[in-house]
Amino acid sequence: MKILAIESSCDDTSVSVLNADKVESCLISSQKFHGKYGGIIPELASRAHIKLISALTQESLKQSNTDINDIDAIAVTTEPGLVGSLIVGSNFAKGLSLRYNKPIIPVNHIEGHLYSGCLQDPSIKFPFITLVVSGGHTAIFNVKSYNDYEIVGLTRDDAAGEAFDKIAKLMGLTYPGGPLIDKLAKEGNDKTYDFPRSMIHSDNFDFSFSGLKTSVRYFVQREFPDGVPESKMPDLAASVQSAIVDVLVHKTLASAKRYNAETIVIAGGVSANSQLRSQMSTEAAKFNIKTVAPDMIYCMDNAAMIGFIAQKKYQEAGKNTFTDLDFVVNPTALRAKRLKKK
Ligand code: KG4
Ligand code: ZN
Repeated sequence: MKILAIESSCDDTSVSVLNADKVESCLISSQKFHGKYGGIIPELASRAHIKLISALTQESLKQSNTDINDIDAIAVTTEPGLVGSLIVGSNFAKGLSLRYNKPIIPVNHIEGHLYSGCLQDPSIKFPFITLVVSGGHTAIFNVKSYNDYEIVGLTRDDAAGEAFDKIAKLMGLTYPGGPLIDKLAKEGNDKTYDFPRSMIHSDNFDFSFSGLKTSVRYFVQREFPDGVPESKMPDLAASVQSAIVDVLVHKTLASAKRYNAETIVIAGGVSANSQLRSQMSTEAAKFNIKTVAPDMIYCMDNAAMIGFIAQKKYQEAGKNTFTDLDFVVNPTALRAKRLKKK
């Protein structure tokens, strides 16, 4: 079965063609221009999606040698995300569905991330734990099957990526600061400065990163009132990064033990972090738990992960389930009942 998948929930436009579980093409266009504004400007993100989406779809079909008439269904991200961005992808998909008379499968973006490890490694067994960690989300899921999962841990304030980006800004770095901190940290000593590992000893799997951000703000104001000198940047970056990664690894591993999971999947933009990837696999291996950190293309926002889970839904529910074009986008679906923490 062939799926054409479309993802435009935030600032990446992506289109993918899958043949069963196999990705035949996956194109991603990231909107780098937001960097100069210090963060994503939603209105500009939607306009950029409008400009890109048609050409990316044609190119994705071309790269996979697929005629659109041979597609079995169209998958599209409808929740959660920026409302304008979601509307662009969803309306474009509805247009294709009408024009070519194809079923359309609405997909939750977080569900896409949850199963992105299976795209990479089809041998993963249920139940597994997925840490979804990005600029907008930080949550731990116990994944029991393709249609059964629960949130077992959630950030109570900032997402980890938000913490990376806000702290990078305090250090005078540009947006998005996460990759820059990662790069600087490679040259630094993480024992130089001691920052809080909030909630690391709490008896749940929740996170809090706003205290770390405040702690770094006071530290920088006190120690470096004229700005962080270049010579101190690597040690500061390494110390901050370890404070974030230690908590992510500790809580994810504790949840894997609690829910008897043999595998941990890390997904979302922050899963690109080199220390998170290596520390998670080293620590998990001590307990015979495998870590799957998908290739970067499947960690970041991408349409292949949307197509993958759409295909599972289609196989289970049958094509007649997906004929409704009346669905609307839902920007805040993580708070919806289905995804609610138990
Ligand atoms: O998943 P993503 O592309 O977009 C959403 O937030 O949905 O994630 C972007 C986030 C940003 O906060 C960025 O700073 C962070 O991922 N990020 C990283 C790294 N690469 C991206 N954070 C730490 N280390 C990295 N190497
Ligand atoms: Zn995402």
